[in-house]
Amino acid sequence: MNIDKVCIHGEWSSRLGFILAATGSAVGLGNIWKFPYMAGEYGGGAFVIIYLVCVALMGLPVMMAEVLLGKRGRCSPINTMRTLAEEVGASKLWQFLGWAGVIAGFLILSYYSVIAGWTLAYIPEVASGTFSAVTTMPETEVMGFVGSIFNNLTGNPLALIFWHTVFIVVTLIMLLGGVQGGLERAVRFMMPALFLLLLVLVGYAMSTPKFMEGVHFMFNVDFHKFFYPKGDQFSGDGLLAAMGQAFFSLSLGMGAIMVYGAYLPKHASIIQTTAVVVVADTLVAILAGLIIFPIVFSNGLEANAGVGLVFKTLPIAFGQMPFGSLVGALFFLLLALAAWSSAISLLEPAIAWLVETGKFTRFSATISSAVAVWLVGFATVFSFNLLADFKPLFDKTLFEQIDYLTSNIMLPLGGLLIAVFVAWMMKRQIITEELELSTDSFGFQLLQFLLRYVTPLGVTLVFLNAIGVFS
Ligand code: PFF
Repeated sequence: MNIDKVCIHGEWSSRLGFILAATGSAVGLGNIWKFPYMAGEYGGGAFVIIYLVCVALMGLPVMMAEVLLGKRGRCSPINTMRTLAEEVGASKLWQFLGWAGVIAGFLILSYYSVIAGWTLAYIPEVASGTFSAVTTMPETEVMGFVGSIFNNLTGNPLALIFWHTVFIVVTLIMLLGGVQGGLERAVRFMMPALFLLLLVLVGYAMSTPKFMEGVHFMFNVDFHKFFYPKGDQFSGDGLLAAMGQAFFSLSLGMGAIMVYGAYLPKHASIIQTTAVVVVADTLVAILAGLIIFPIVFSNGLEANAGVGLVFKTLPIAFGQMPFGSLVGALFFLLLALAAWSSAISLLEPAIAWLVETGKFTRFSATISSAVAVWLVGFATVFSFNLLADFKPLFDKTLFEQIDYLTSNIMLPLGGLLIAVFVAWMMKRQIITEELELSTDSFGFQLLQFLLRYVTPLGVTLVFLNAIGVFS
């Protein structure tokens, strides 16, 4: 069967186009908002090290596998998995992987957009100079002041709905333009700008009195504390969270990278492109940690402050530094842009699939899915105020449940299935052809080993550990 011609939605102008878009997808709130607060919650160093190991041993190979699937299938994840399963004579059930991905992307975007809304809300807040007040108040009041601004925002459902709506509307407009056009150009300017600003902020963090304490927190590995956070009671949660964060941060396991791979020009090299994306993504997360933890310790804040961590720390820095209002507004704007370039990749698998059914135009597919995501987002909006005490399962709010289900379960499971499909079901010859490697090269052997054994076993063991099988 000729799978070359089915459902092509477009193509990147070059390999660089793909690198920019995939980096745009990977770098986002996951690096700057989520990574620091998770690392803070799970005690620092051990979480960071396990996260890095997961990125190297599972994230990188799964990303290669996911791009490969997209490039070969050239469709939405659902139809890519259907045609490829047919090509290798595997069960039609592999489509399920595509379906799970579409659902995961949808659920993630529903809360991602609310958090990105916080970022938008902080742009005028910082720009108006609110936080310069921290320079004149006694040190003991700083924490309460920044905390109250954050709590006032999250406690106000109308404000959250407003910013969530703004974020979704702009995502919608970007998606209507098609993923290729505007995105390539926007990311080309945004990524270097964000990176530069992060370097400026690292410079600021180095000038704080407790810089080394922050560095120590991030890199000092204490596995005992990690596995026994409450004294002598074992917990596998941190391990699961670190693995989930690796998949989340790299946008893996749900078809976002697969659908971007489907727009890759036929002869672009998968190996080099994915390596660039993984390194860039990891670097941004580490830089974010190096900025935030010194500020945490220098101002007597708690590293385990949870989802508000970034919003309670960085404004202190912006309040204190010269031109802080400007730098801060720019920072939150760039963070919002980074979130947008991730958001569109969360919805693209669903849109591509709706278009392929033949029942939707790109326009109607985009509008319907955006409206649906917007509505589901209310569950997250209310998790911080009206429904803050509504914890129907596992003592978690609706937001926490959606986040846990997608990051800790769906994405790693998706990654596991992608690894199994590529390494066990596909013919070697197809893999080597797409990767432009020879079967006996070291690179191919290593990739095959990681995909065949390390990823499936690793994910399974972490799952079993989390449900307490080994404790
Ligand atoms: N990787 C994005 C981030 O770190 O913010 C979030 C994300 C995008 C997750 C796309 C999953 C995805 F498919």
